[in-house]
Amino acid sequence: MRIFSGIQPTGRKHLGNHIGAIRGYVEGQDRGDPAIYCIVDLHAITVSYEPAELRRYVYDTAAMLIASGLDPDRCILFRQSDVREHTELCWLLASVTAHGDLNRMHQFKEKSARQRELVSAGLFLYPVLQAADVLAYRADEVPVGDDQRQHLELTRDVAIRFNATYGDVLTVPEHRIPAVGARIMDLQDPTAKMSTTSSEERGRIYVDEDEKAIVKKIKSAVTDSGAEVRRGPGKDGISNLIEIYAVTRGVTPEDVEREFDGQRYGDFKAAVAEAVADYLRPVRERYAELRPDDAALEATLAAGAARARDLAAATLADVRHAMGVGAP
Ligand code: AMP
Ligand code: TRP
Repeated sequence: MRIFSGIQPTGRKHLGNHIGAIRGYVEGQDRGDPAIYCIVDLHAITVSYEPAELRRYVYDTAAMLIASGLDPDRCILFRQSDVREHTELCWLLASVTAHGDLNRMHQFKEKSARQRELVSAGLFLYPVLQAADVLAYRADEVPVGDDQRQHLELTRDVAIRFNATYGDVLTVPEHRIPAVGARIMDLQDPTAKMSTTSSEERGRIYVDEDEKAIVKKIKSAVTDSGAEVRRGPGKDGISNLIEIYAVTRGVTPEDVEREFDGQRYGDFKAAVAEAVADYLRPVRERYAELRPDDAALEATLAAGAARARDLAAATLADVRHAMGVGAP
């Protein structure tokens, strides 16, 4: 079972990233043969960014993934731009990707609407590079949060069209989206997903957030005017807190509803805050130890890239051969 996923180096990662995706990466590393995790700096340059910041953010993200439990001896952890096969495969796959499909991508529509100066062609091609990431490793399974469902569907379509056109070369992957916690919502606007770019700081909890801030943000989370700790229509805020509590305490949402039956929102929020603080504490502490050592992080990423390159190069040779590209 080959497992692959990618994560953007967009500064501090949040609780939604952790619950929706990173938790799944850690779980996958002992099932993966191998499990491969990529920090996708080339995706991050499709919107405006600061070059010096991007370098730092790659280290932030690497340290955060290791602090969360990824072990570079048990998985391959690397930086996307270090393995040039990704960009070559992106171009080759662009010729079997439908322009109309890219035009329908929700993430493209949302992100292009937010750009003030330039909607880059890179942003439009973003899903093709993502397909290249996955297909270069012939991954069977891709752990992601719910917002990547459409990108994964496109990846599958690209692989299927490639195989139909050039012969059976690529593996058609499956997504792995968790049953609970695949879409953690913003604490201030529980109808929108928690995201790095949403306007309010108070709406998201960072993985390395200090405990006082965690308590404050969860206590001020928007809920409804009712009084029942239950999931249901009109109860987006409470439903979100139930999912957060369930994942961070390792129980089911049904267990949570039973445990807090008849209790007040205030008491429930206090319990959620404590659960989140307990869940993130070891990650924050480990992160503080790992993050200062840029050289060690760089060495880990470089070793990962060397292993990744071998796997990707083998796929690229087959793809080039099948497409009639390059010397025979
Ligand atoms: P990104 O930071 O956009 O690279 O996202 C990294 C991973 O986190 C992807 O697999 C996303 O699907 C997942 N993710 C992002 N936001 C959320 C959220 N609010 N809830 C659950 N998963 C999320
Ligand atoms: N687009 C993904 C996100 O925003 C990141 C990503 C890039 C990715 N390449 C990938 C995810 C390959 C899974 C597989 O979260």
